[in-house]
Amino acid sequence: MLVNATAMLQSAEKGHYGLGAFNTNNLEWASSILDAAEELQSPLIIQCTGGAAKWQTSFKVVADIVKDLVEAKNITVPVALHLDHGSYEQVFQCIDAGFTSVMYDGSHEETFDLNLQRTEEIVKLAHSKGISVEAEVGGIGGVEDGVASAGELADPQQCKAIADLGVDFLACGIGNIHGVYPADWQGLSFDRLAEIKALTGDLPLVLHGGTGIPVDQIQKAISLGICKINVNTDLQLAFAAATRKYIEEGKDQQGKGYDPRKLLKPGRDAIVERTKELIQEFGSEGKAWN
Ligand code: 13P
Repeated sequence: MLVNATAMLQSAEKGHYGLGAFNTNNLEWASSILDAAEELQSPLIIQCTGGAAKWQTSFKVVADIVKDLVEAKNITVPVALHLDHGSYEQVFQCIDAGFTSVMYDGSHEETFDLNLQRTEEIVKLAHSKGISVEAEVGGIGGVEDGVASAGELADPQQCKAIADLGVDFLACGIGNIHGVYPADWQGLSFDRLAEIKALTGDLPLVLHGGTGIPVDQIQKAISLGICKINVNTDLQLAFAAATRKYIEEGKDQQGKGYDPRKLLKPGRDAIVERTKELIQEFGSEGKAWN
């Protein structure tokens, strides 16, 4: 069932658990992530960046793949299809393409006022169509889809100003970065998270850069108000490692091991297993009907 992400994240906020928001790159990715969520009866946010949509041709293709998979696989758990790190223009494209949820990442706009103004406009339009909205304050470090920013601690007052616009969930930098964490990473700032939570009340907060954060830090962040944990690189690494193993063992050269259905299967299975582990760590197993 395709839904927006509001109710599932509000339930997570009340129930003190987190929902994984897993990035999809293609049919195998989407199918594997859906299988994991269905098996563990977890609500699911499946998300796509502009770059990954371009790879798959368009946002409409992504929306059609996910919708058709949900129907054809008889997926019973609630699934939100979310735009990850959308530009102002991409938000409108995704609303037209049939996404049920969008992130407008205004943290790269020239001024905070422009972020505010555009977020407000998007909230009005999206809500008139039943679509949920994530906004962002404070750039997330690392490189996401070619956009780089230094790790930041979001300004709590700016978070409150954006929250007051009626966004459904809010991404705020608390020292997290995209991609693999460097050895000298300082860890998450729980003090800053607590300050933001104190000003934003029961608004579900979002942690980007979910790959490689120690589980105890993720779980502490969830206990302090993080409800959505974005994961992309982690599943890419799982897919790559399983595919590498298959090829290094020479299996692609045995019989018809080169057949894409055989060649991609270990990576596909690895995505299912890793997604299941993450769902369990975040605590959303069995929460599909909360
Ligand atoms: P990672 O690639 O570090 O898991 O980050 C994903 C993310 O935050 C997507 O918005």
